[in-house]
Amino acid sequence: MAQILGRHLHLFMLSSVLILQIAMAAGQNTSTEAKSFTLVNNCNETIWPGILTRGNNSNGYGFALQQGQTAFYNATAGWSGRMWARTGCSFDKNGTGTCQTGSCGTSINCTVPSNPPNTIAEFTLGDVDFYDVSLVDGFNLPIVISPIDGKGNCSIAGCDGDLRQNCSSGLAVKSDEKVIACRSACDAFNTDEYCCRGAYADPVACLPTNYSRSFKQVCPAAASYAFDDSISIITCSASEYVVTFCASRNQKVCSYHDNKLVCNTSKGSKASPLGGLGGWILVLALPLTYNLKMKFYIS
Ligand SMILES: *[C@@H]1O[C@H](CO)[C@@H](O)[C@H](O)[C@H]1NC(C)=O
Ligand SMILES: *[C@@H]1O[C@H](CO)[C@@H](O)[C@H](O)[C@H]1NC(C)=O
Ligand SMILES: *[C@@H]1O[C@H](CO)[C@@H](O)[C@H](O)[C@H]1NC(C)=O
Ligand SMILES: *[C@@H]1O[C@H](CO)[C@@H](O)[C@H](O)[C@H]1NC(C)=O
Ligand SMILES: *[C@@H]1O[C@H](CO)[C@@H](O)[C@H](O)[C@H]1NC(C)=O
Ligand SMILES: *[C@@H]1O[C@H](CO)[C@@H](O)[C@H](O)[C@H]1NC(C)=O
Ligand SMILES: *[C@@H]1O[C@H](CO)[C@@H](O)[C@H](O)[C@H]1NC(C)=O
Ligand SMILES: *[C@@H]1O[C@H](CO)[C@@H](O)[C@H](O)[C@H]1NC(C)=O
Ligand SMILES: *[C@@H]1O[C@H](CO)[C@@H](O)[C@H](O)[C@H]1NC(C)=O
Ligand SMILES: *[C@@H]1O[C@H](CO)[C@@H](O)[C@H](O)[C@H]1NC(C)=O
Repeated sequence: MAQILGRHLHLFMLSSVLILQIAMAAGQNTSTEAKSFTLVNNCNETIWPGILTRGNNSNGYGFALQQGQTAFYNATAGWSGRMWARTGCSFDKNGTGTCQTGSCGTSINCTVPSNPPNTIAEFTLGDVDFYDVSLVDGFNLPIVISPIDGKGNCSIAGCDGDLRQNCSSGLAVKSDEKVIACRSACDAFNTDEYCCRGAYADPVACLPTNYSRSFKQVCPAAASYAFDDSISIITCSASEYVVTFCASRNQKVCSYHDNKLVCNTSKGSKASPLGGLGGWILVLALPLTYNLKMKFYIS
């Protein structure tokens, strides 16, 4: 058990090492305002997001988010931490239970990092925000991070597809013959080359492998191994972030925002009647067919 925990912490640190270094080099400013996060479950099943603050594991959080539901999270000024989704969970009334992927112990509130493999959204907030989607600890579902009303290089981070549908057999985690997650090569084979340790403990020596390339193919805007520097550094000052589970970067996604349903429009649309929302505009009356097609329900 101790060994397993140690391994998880190791992976936890590895995946965070890049973004933390970058943020520190930039001289993070913690005197900025709180920022709001909108978490959207675009999956066709219930998920249980976990939110963990870096360096303060007593401050963990977790909850159930049904298909189509939206949740809000206000991050304090200078917040740094991670978000992910647990799948296949079963919790009792006391919030005690287990999950098939992304589990963080037995509590619905996560106080320890997740048990790989699972996709992770990482943030370091300040005057300038740093964020990425990490597959360094493996993949359990696609995550997309979309900044709203941001200034700077505010790229959309994350996936274009679902790696569960294209996970090589040596990495696949199955339940009832169904792939529920895809392990990282480091997690599955535990070699220095895949884990960027020993002789491979720096970005020059630790290069992409055929496994990390197969991750990159499905999630081009995500870190596919510990020293993956092919994701250019994303630095953005945004007032809000939308973290969507089970969406792709180019997919139209709606969320419930400021008591209104907000959908993003295709990029470059200058006809937005609400300039302040950037690429997102309000859709007050959705046709029923659209609703059904998107499988989106306001709850
Ligand atoms: C941090 O923010 C404060 C207040 O907005 C400002 O005075 C200071 O110059 C900022 N520091 C850096 C390093 O940006
Ligand atoms: C729902 O998700 C499961 C698991 O990802 C998948 O096998 C199934 O095809 C999905 N169903 C629909 C209608 O998208
Ligand atoms: C950790 O989080 C708890 C609960 O929110 C808070 O009371 C405490 O001050 C935090 N500790 C640190 C070092 O930030
Ligand atoms: C987040 O902060 C805003 C502004 O202070 C507030 O209106 C909103 O209720 C807060 N949301 C949550 C989930 O606490
Ligand atoms: C929930 O917690 C209470 C109080 O600790 C305990 O009596 C009860 O048995 C627990 N219920 C379950 C389902 O574990
Ligand atoms: C989880 O955390 C929330 C928010 O701090 C709290 O209200 C809830 O009681 C906690 N649940 C459990 C089971 O610890
Ligand atoms: C699945 O992976 C193979 C090999 O990497 C690739 O050729 C194929 O295009 C991928 N299929 C999908 C649907 O991504
Ligand atoms: C990667 O390379 C190894 C060894 O060369 C091979 O066994 C494995 O099948 C390859 N995996 C993929 C996903 O191509
Ligand atoms: C913005 O970020 C994207 C992706 O990280 C990168 O491809 C692009 O070159 C960056 N643009 C600028 C102007 O830095
Ligand atoms: C919004 O959806 C369009 C496709 O309709 C896509 O190209 C764009 O990247 C999306 N933007 C965001 C912020 O999700």
